[in-house]
Amino acid sequence: MKNQRGEMVIYLPGAMDEVGILDNLSPREIVTHLDKHVIGQKSAKRAVAIALRNRFRRQKLPEEMAEEVMPKNIIMIGSTGVGKTEIARRLSKLANSPFLKVEASKYTEVGYVGRDVESMIRDLVEIAVELVREEKLEEVVDKAEQNAEERILDLLLPPRPQPTEEKASNEEILKGQQAFKRTREKLRNQLREGKLDDHQVEVEAKTKNMPAFEIISNSGIEDMDINVKDMLPGIFGQKTKKRKMRVDEAREYLLQEEEQKLVDMDQVTRIAVERVEQNGIIFLDEIDKISGREGSRGPEVSREGVQRDILPIVEGTTVNTRYGMVRTDHILFIAAGAFHVSKPADLIPELQGRFPIRVELESLSVDDFVRILTEPKSALIKQYVGLMNTEGIKLHFSKGAILTIAKFAALVNERTENIGARRLHTIMEKLLDEISFEGPDLEQKNVVIDEEYVQKMLASVVEDQDLSRYIL
Ligand SMILES: Nc1ncnc2c1ncn2[C@@H]1O[C@H](COP(=O)(O)OP(=O)(O)OP(=O)(O)O)[C@@H](O)[C@H]1O
Ligand SMILES: [Mg+2]
Repeated sequence: MKNQRGEMVIYLPGAMDEVGILDNLSPREIVTHLDKHVIGQKSAKRAVAIALRNRFRRQKLPEEMAEEVMPKNIIMIGSTGVGKTEIARRLSKLANSPFLKVEASKYTEVGYVGRDVESMIRDLVEIAVELVREEKLEEVVDKAEQNAEERILDLLLPPRPQPTEEKASNEEILKGQQAFKRTREKLRNQLREGKLDDHQVEVEAKTKNMPAFEIISNSGIEDMDINVKDMLPGIFGQKTKKRKMRVDEAREYLLQEEEQKLVDMDQVTRIAVERVEQNGIIFLDEIDKISGREGSRGPEVSREGVQRDILPIVEGTTVNTRYGMVRTDHILFIAAGAFHVSKPADLIPELQGRFPIRVELESLSVDDFVRILTEPKSALIKQYVGLMNTEGIKLHFSKGAILTIAKFAALVNERTENIGARRLHTIMEKLLDEISFEGPDLEQKNVVIDEEYVQKMLASVVEDQDLSRYIL
């Protein structure tokens, strides 16, 4: 089949109705996955798992009813460093749905310099397009590789001009053709074995001219409604120029070109927009930073203004993006905030109403700290062991040491400021300060960190409140 630009494209059956990995997971499976990275916080994990599953359920409803089922947006409330952002981060890795994590505080209300809230939808669409494009690339990569190989062979051994009938007999022509084929196959083998990588070939390459003018806009090129970004290659990039390249370079270059030809971008954007509308998730972090209903005095951006701008997007509106209009009705919003100063009740009532599910994250205990230090896939202790191991140092932490670290972290949190699991980072840095510095010069390659060592390195700092305020 050909697309609008007349390029050949391949449509694979079922490509339009594929479902993301995440959508096949039961709530329990989603929680299990999150458990690998985030300790505790059961209710928050449950809430997001249910919300995600509900969208999957919704898609199975008759269209009429599905239209009516609104996403159950969530607010996660919990003091700093207890895993709110971590849950979002892990979810996004798991999600095959387009997923965007943004800080609410980076938006400003309409009319102010800064990012307008609608740009979050545009960003989400960009992410979706990239996601779908990657999937489609995967589907065509074999074909693209074949094509690229043929094109390299054409360059290495240009097709022979056809001899005219009068000069050659049929037999001679046939012989010539066979010889040519043999040479080509020989070259193909050598190419595959990488023996020709050092050879030079001349490739018809698209020139990437820099535009002769600069685009000045305070919203940035990605926000423009007209497709300047798309126009640029059209104006400047279509000229080609012969460029000498190594064969391995040329192969890489031609592969990309072939991939681009084989992926139908119209189809990609169509699927992407649909995915955003049906499965998109936006994680609005730091929502507490825009709460408050004070009228703004002076040139300061009003937080309430930002909330009012966000409202229609959460409620369901249409946003113009460079891939077309996108409806936001069924996008799932998960908001998170520490709400130290403000309360969810300080959000404007309309916005509160759009986030019917509230979950609180618990503050972390000594036990949690022990688990956070050791259990997650890339737990802090594992990280440090790995880092030191690169220099041949075998770091070992005793159980007692880990418990003491956890206790110190809890103690400092209690006495100074509660920064949750982030405290573990500062404590670990301090604890391993000497070993990290001496690392490469250490004679003794086996280092055991036991309770005594932890006490020696940290006790004095932890005991001294003033000191720990600065150092930990
Ligand atoms: N429950 C947890 N399990 C595992 N690691 C955690 C947990 N809570 C926090 N951490 C670790 O602590 C660090 C900070 O956590 P995170 O970014 O999720 O905090 P937050 O809740 O978003 O805080 P803030 O309100 O300041 O944004 C991360 O490195 C994270 O890995
Ligand atoms: Mg956070």
